[in-house]
Order: sequence, then structure tokens, then C-alpha cells
Amino acid sequence: MALLDGKVAVITGAGRGIGREEALLMAKHGCKVVVNDLGGHFDGTGQSRSPAEDVVKEIRAAGGEAVANFESVTDFKAAKRIIECAIDNFGKLSIVVNNAGILRDRMIFNMNEEDWDAVVAVHLKGSFNVARHACAYWREQHKAGNVLNGRLINTSSDSGILGNAGQSNYGAAKAAVAAMAIIVDREMQRYGVTANAIAPVARTRLTVDATPQTAAGMPQAKAGEWDAFTPAHVAPLVTWLGSDDAKDVHGEVFRVGMGTVWLMKGWHSVGKVAKRGSMWEPAELGGKLKEELAKGVTAKENMGQVMAGNV
Ligand SMILES: NC(=O)c1ccc[n+]([C@@H]2O[C@H](COP(=O)([O-])OP(=O)(O)OC[C@H]3O[C@@H](n4cnc5c(N)ncnc54)[C@H](O)[C@@H]3O)[C@@H](O)[C@H]2O)c1
Repeated sequence: MALLDGKVAVITGAGRGIGREEALLMAKHGCKVVVNDLGGHFDGTGQSRSPAEDVVKEIRAAGGEAVANFESVTDFKAAKRIIECAIDNFGKLSIVVNNAGILRDRMIFNMNEEDWDAVVAVHLKGSFNVARHACAYWREQHKAGNVLNGRLINTSSDSGILGNAGQSNYGAAKAAVAAMAIIVDREMQRYGVTANAIAPVARTRLTVDATPQTAAGMPQAKAGEWDAFTPAHVAPLVTWLGSDDAKDVHGEVFRVGMGTVWLMKGWHSVGKVAKRGSMWEPAELGGKLKEELAKGVTAKENMGQVMAGNV
């Protein structure tokens, strides 16, 4: 029996890149897949049916089951139709992968309101929209005695969990979708649902065309060589997280790529300065904080170290 036999997944933005690989591998493991993709440019403009249709054709050619959906995740009502597409075509919904994404990089002082809104709309609002309708469905089914072992997998980014210059819109949204997975997991555990987040590292148009500075760190493999940066490295983790075997994985954030899965830990205290009985003088407090910070307890990883394999 295949790992995802009997499961039905919605994967947003599955017409290209990481989502396409997730759709292909999950289908190979027995999952029926709604391949959602608006099919636009990397900055969110335009649309095309071909990316989603092509992935559906690939899955069917390999003997799997899939349907295409071309709705935008940014629209609350359209997101409901994405969820209904799974139920109408395949009778139920088991797994949601919030993967759709765009980029509009600008330094904060140059960022237009539209660039902020467009990126937050796809990553943050879009992830909410799809999760909201899926969770309402899973809760309703649970109440009716039909436990579907729902799985929500949000796609975060090192840009959100480590930070990356030029991406305040994207990074803020990506930090938020990781937090959203942790929170939704706490809300949905009682209905048999898990929610987790991944932070992929892969060569796709978002890291090649949209951010040429990143592309340099993700070279194409030579023919016959192991390809460290293919987006295919992300799919095994997501496939497993979608399975019943991952039922005890709750509210985790994993970085994934290059054949490696990193277990991430978010905000947690690593030191403190405290005074009781009287108030801190600001300068006195600053002095103590500088001593504490100088110990290096808040030293952070950065994206360059990750891609160079130094983390
Ligand atoms: N490539 C990386 O290294 C990397 C790193 C961190 C996070 N991510 C995240 O992984 C996800 C997948 O990105 P990718 O690198 O495969 O890029 P990609 O551009 O190849 O794929 C993203 C897909 O999302 C679709 N999409 C965009 N807006 C949509 C909308 N409103 N509704 C439905 N579909 C929409 C696009 O048409 C595209 O096919 C994104 O969320 C991205 O932010 C990627």
C-alpha cells in the first residue's frame, strides 16, 4: 500500500517549481491531487491555465489522479471553491499544502504599497483563505464522526525565519505563515488535524529569475551529477507530513532542501537581565544588555550559510 493511498490533497501553486514536485510525488504515492495554480508571472501579474494543466497531464500519464484548478488563493470565496474542487471531484479533502507564492523585492524605503499588499495577499492572506475553509470542513466532518486526519502544511521561508534584506513584505508574510501553522495546530489538534510549516531551499524561478543574487548560490548540476538544488528535494518531507504516519508531528517548522531536513526552533529565551525591588535606570539596563549580547547568545544563521552548506 502506498503512503498516501486514499488521500486527497489540495496543493496551491502546484503548476511550477516546488509545488509541482510535491504534486508529482504525492500522486506517485497514491494521493489524488487538486493542482491549483493561477499561472501568473513571478510578481503576481498575469495568469495562464497551462502550468496547472501540464502538471495534471504529467500525473495522469504516470497513472495518477489529478484535476486542475486555476483560482487565485488571494480571494476568500475562490479559496472555498479550491477546497470544494477536491470534495466535488474526489469525495473528500485530507491534505492542504499552502505553497503558492510571488515575489516583489524592494528595500523598505522604496517599497510601494502595491508591492507590500500583493505579496502579503498571496502568502499570508492566501494561506489563511485556504486553511480557513479546509479547517471548517475538517471540523464539520469530525463533528459528524468522520475523522479525516487533516494535514495543513504551510510554506514559510528562511527569509521569514532568519531575515533577508529586500524582502520585508515577503519575509514578514513568511514568518506569519510559520506562526499560523503553530497556532492552527493548537486549534485543530482536537479534530485530528496537524499543521506544520516548511522553509524550502531550491532552485526555481523565484530564486533564479526573481532574485538573481540567490541564483548564483544555486548552480545547475552537471549532467549525471547529484543536483543539490532541485525542488524535488522538498517533496519527500511534504509527502510524509501528509501521511497518517506523521500524526504526532505538531506545529513544527522544518527547513528542507539539498537532501537535508533541518528541525527549526523559533523564538525562545536564551538569556536575560533582571532586577527586582527597584526600576532599571535606562543606561544601567543598556550596559547589562550589552554585556549579555556580547556573549553571542543571539547569534543568527543567515541564508548564505545555509546555501553554502555551513549550517
Ligand atoms: N525556491 C525557494 O528556494 C523557496 C524558498 C523559500 C520559500 N519558497 C516558497 O515556496 C513556494 C513555491 O515557490 P517556488 O520557488 O516553487 O516558485 P514558483 O514561482 O516556481 O511557483 C509558485 C507558483 O505559485 C503560483 N501562484 C502565484 N500566485 C498565485 C495565486 N494567487 N494563486 C494560485 N497560485 C499562485 C505561481 O503561478 C507559480 O506557479 C512559495 O511559497 C515560495 O515563497 C521557495
